[in-house]
Amino acid sequence: MSENGTGTAENEIENMNLEDNHDKPSENVDVDNNLDDVVNPWNVSSSSAKGVDYDKLIKRFGSSKIDDVLIARIEKLTGKPAHHLLRRGIFFSHREMHHILDLYEKKKPFYLYTGRGPSSTAMHMGHLIPFLFTKWLQETFDVPLVIQLTDDEKYLWKDLQAEEAKQLALENAKDIIAIGFDINKTFIFSDFNYIGQSPAFYMNMVKTQKLVTFNQVKGIFGFGDSDCIGKISFPAIQASPSFSSSFPQIFNNRKDVPCLIPCAIDQDPYFRMTRDVAPRMGYQKPALIHSTFFPALQGAQTKMSASDPNSSIFLTDTNKQIKTKVNKYAFSGGGDTVEEHKEKGGNCDVDVSYQYLTFFLEDDDRLAQIKKDYSSGELLTGYLKKELVEILQKIVGDHQQRRKNVTDEVAYSYMKPRKLDFNY
Ligand code: TYM
Repeated sequence: MSENGTGTAENEIENMNLEDNHDKPSENVDVDNNLDDVVNPWNVSSSSAKGVDYDKLIKRFGSSKIDDVLIARIEKLTGKPAHHLLRRGIFFSHREMHHILDLYEKKKPFYLYTGRGPSSTAMHMGHLIPFLFTKWLQETFDVPLVIQLTDDEKYLWKDLQAEEAKQLALENAKDIIAIGFDINKTFIFSDFNYIGQSPAFYMNMVKTQKLVTFNQVKGIFGFGDSDCIGKISFPAIQASPSFSSSFPQIFNNRKDVPCLIPCAIDQDPYFRMTRDVAPRMGYQKPALIHSTFFPALQGAQTKMSASDPNSSIFLTDTNKQIKTKVNKYAFSGGGDTVEEHKEKGGNCDVDVSYQYLTFFLEDDDRLAQIKKDYSSGELLTGYLKKELVEILQKIVGDHQQRRKNVTDEVAYSYMKPRKLDFNY
């Protein structure tokens, strides 16, 4: 067990004992074969060039695979085509999405909850993924959204002063707002700011703390004897926004509005714990929809890191930086020479530029054509990278333009506890 509270694969497997039968993994899972992939809130790595084996992860975590039936149901109920991140299996796993769709079908309310740990000013392209998808969910289902900025978490885990973490939360809120969330339907809060103002939130935190033992959080998160008690009790803080009673101003004191949490699967341990305690608190379990990881430029074995600027594209990068990083660092699945590439073709499964296109090139036909031409060797790595650079420059450039208009005042107005445009 690590000193800094980093979970291990074994810890997560132990954690599955926390869940109810519905979410228990198949008894036939051979856990030992899966230990090469490490997926937890602090570390995501795999020994395979193709990255994490997500099918195995579903079994290990005891979640459900997003299948064609679920996607077709979403399309039928909403009358909208599924988002490309859903169609392409990037959002690949869920817990109780059908329950959320049942509610939607019966015109019963639910809300969305997601978050960000503000560890640096620069968010990377991977952080955009859950937020882009959350925006689509919000627009498609027309529901309230709460976004938690865990400045307290980053203060506890990183070498940051409390005030610095709080400032980073404000800066990250501006990036999130620039993605285009509707101010009338979205509440963004920093833990340092909101929790002290909300007795209801605090009460849910403490109720959660009473229901989870030290042994259980050790099992789930890998905390050790020398971890500070702030870390040990932090999971209760990330759990509490899953309960509508934590936001009496939005839900008119209702404690029965269920929530759906979009996130990458690294955050799932928090919510396995939350799902375990919820019924014992008289609340509904949060539903979840999980994404895979946007890979580091160097390849799918690693998670991107804000402390390594060359590991990814950041929302603060210039056009020139984007071009240089993609050309220099994006791991290529192409042949070593033009001749070899033309003869054997490129390998899209490991090619990072191609992987990035699957996240950000929305045109299905174009993507399929690129895959065909790259795999056959007709298209060279250079062309693939050129196409990617143009797409990323546009997304990042447009984002930077929108962010310029997000002043401190705009951010504070999203972060003010208030009623949203929904009646309960
Ligand atoms: P954080 O800041 O590490 O990540 C923010 C969100 O981005 C997802 N994510 C990624 N998605 C795709 N590809 C990647 N490479 C990638 N890296 C990170 C994370 O899963 C997350 O959804 N403790 C949390 C903050 C938090 C939260 C939440 C997140 C509080 N409440 C509820 C999700 C849902 C954190 O530090 O996230």
